[in-house]
Amino acid sequence: MNATSTVTKPEHVAIIMDGNGRWAKSRGLPRVAGHRAGVKTLRKLIEHSVKINLNAITVYAFSRENWQRPKSEVDLLMDLFISALNSEVKDLHKNNVKLTFIGDRSAFSRKLQNSINDSETLTTSNTGLRLNIAANYSGRWDIVQAIQVITKEIESNKIKIEDVDEALVSNKLSLADHNDPDLFIRTGGEQRISNYFLWQSAYTELYFTETLWPDFDAKQLDIAIDWFSQRQRRFGKTSEQIEQTQNS
Ligand code: FPP
Repeated sequence: MNATSTVTKPEHVAIIMDGNGRWAKSRGLPRVAGHRAGVKTLRKLIEHSVKINLNAITVYAFSRENWQRPKSEVDLLMDLFISALNSEVKDLHKNNVKLTFIGDRSAFSRKLQNSINDSETLTTSNTGLRLNIAANYSGRWDIVQAIQVITKEIESNKIKIEDVDEALVSNKLSLADHNDPDLFIRTGGEQRISNYFLWQSAYTELYFTETLWPDFDAKQLDIAIDWFSQRQRRFGKTSEQIEQTQNS
């Protein structure tokens, strides 16, 4: 570990699971085969996250922009979400995982909404890993919905304009009961945030890897965590200030 590190393990890891399509294409398979392999990868990484005692992981399963994909792929993804949820939720529950969905679920079919609601209800009292699934989510959408909630509270005189500060906005965003992500991982080689956590990733450490999501494994998660543990998180301060605090 670097002598100037302030942390060893991230509490909250946000992941963009990119590269399923390319993984499938390189094997001459349909894109959906890549998504199916992606679900298996996610399952293994959840197991590993439980084992290494991570507090929370949040995966970007479907962005608001993903509706623009061919209808056949969107339909297959929706079916995959339902079947993956139905087949995995009991095991997640057994492992004390608490499942939460963020994003506008009202756009999903009644069947998928039921699976989402049932899985959240079943795992609601669990105290282990927080597994959050961002589905029909985007960072800009999150900020807009927070603005709507705040505006309504001002209109109904519940709060005053002067009460609006960073803490209040944070409180109205998705996952307000979580720390902001410490570590962001994007597989698949692209180096962008793609409208994922915008407000919440102000000080998140960003880790990009060329590995396609279906090939990402527990060892690679450990490497990303190790990389994170070498980072000196300064939150706007100087290195000298951070070192002084650590030595005092
Ligand atoms: C991005 O790869 C991946 C997605 C849009 C879907 C990810 C979803 C899963 C792995 C399933 C998760 C399931 C549950 C129940 C949470 P891409 O298609 O953009 O790949 P490409 O960049 O190679 O084309």
